[in-house]
Amino acid sequence: MQIVNSDHRWGPVSMLLHWGIVALIGWMAWLGLTMVDLPPTPAKINAYALHKSLGLTLLALVIVRVAWRLFAGAPRPVPGTPTWQERIANLTHIALYVLLFAIPLSGWVFNSASGYPLQWFKQFNLPAITGRSEELAATAIQVHEYGFWLLILLVLAHAGAAFYHHIFQGDDTLRRMLPSLRRADATPDPTSEH
Ligand code: HEM
Ligand code: HEM
Repeated sequence: MQIVNSDHRWGPVSMLLHWGIVALIGWMAWLGLTMVDLPPTPAKINAYALHKSLGLTLLALVIVRVAWRLFAGAPRPVPGTPTWQERIANLTHIALYVLLFAIPLSGWVFNSASGYPLQWFKQFNLPAITGRSEELAATAIQVHEYGFWLLILLVLAHAGAAFYHHIFQGDDTLRRMLPSLRRADATPDPTSEH
């Protein structure tokens, strides 16, 4: 398997980034939704600190992911995919990338506008990206929360589409984003020149 993406399947770096970010989003969702209801104890402070440190890590991974995507390209659409499906898939992917930036950045804006400090795993401090403002903090936390629920909706549609392709169309859409996809490796896109 080659490191970069080929015409007919995703390479290991893209797969690792895709599934690593999926796992981190799951962890962040659970942390975010439970930490807000904790009683005011040191455990709450630790949960917030972990949420912010992991969220900043996620933001860095998303930057790496987009850079890698621009460098390593993407496989062609699975042969036989209608153009309208390709368009919807592309739009969904763009919306997912936008939210992967908007959610952590709005968290950072909320933190800055509220005047809270920001540390990465107690290793170093990060600067405030805005001045203090109650109004901005209120907007930012709305973007953070609604952005998160929109992400969940889009991910449900996105994963549903992947399973639909796998189960009903029987094509390689899901398989080529998974390791050891013998079939995807063995049956390159016939329209490919390689
Ligand atoms: C992709 C990454 C992130 C996800 C998926 C995420 C998700 C969430 C969720 C689901 C909540 C709970 C919202 C609620 O129901 O009240 C939350 C709250 C919060 N998030 Fe994030 N978050 C992310 C990144 C960040 C980052 C990077 C920061 C700060 C630097 C941050 C700061 C906060 C804060 C301070 C709250 C609590 C707000 C409050 O107390 O009402 N988040 N986040
Ligand atoms: C937090 C959750 C998720 C996010 C943010 C996400 C995001 C993305 C994005 C942005 C792409 C487009 C890659 C590109 O063209 O650069 C992609 C591709 C893909 N995702 Fe996800 N994804 C998530 C969860 C899932 C789940 C749960 C599944 C399957 C059950 C899945 C299956 C796939 C597949 C099969 C592809 C490749 C599609 C193709 O080759 O045309 N994703 N994902």
